[in-house]
Amino acid sequence: DRQRYEAESAPATCDGTIDSNHPGFSGTGFCNGDNAVGAAAQFTVTPEGAGSATVAVRFANGADARPADVVVNGVTVGTVSFESTGAWSAWATKELTVPLNAGSNTIRLHPTTPAGLANIDYLDLAAAA
Ligand code: GCU
Ligand code: CA
Repeated sequence: DRQRYEAESAPATCDGTIDSNHPGFSGTGFCNGDNAVGAAAQFTVTPEGAGSATVAVRFANGADARPADVVVNGVTVGTVSFESTGAWSAWATKELTVPLNAGSNTIRLHPTTPAGLANIDYLDLAAAA
């Protein structure tokens, strides 16, 4: 089972605009972050319990790779390379492993180049096994 957190649904935040001009997204739109270092998409997730969790981030990128730091509860725990998917309407998912606490956690995708983030559709949190 998975819990889905849409990028356009509060308490998620998007340092940019919620857009719907590229088809294939889930929900009502996706986060089009500003083209800038640090223009982030942030999700607030609540796992069934503390521990290492697998999350899948759905994204599209019609340009060159747009790497980002993965910041959990304010701590950078890894990086993710949102490579080109060939078109802004071609969506793909990236799986990340993140350490989560019991209760509410923030997962922030913090782009590290001036191109900013890929477009971000949602984050799925896999339920504990
Ligand atoms: C285009 C595209 C956007 C995308 C942007 C970018 O404008 O339509 O969805 O976010 O490029 O380069 O970030
Ligand atoms: Ca953008």
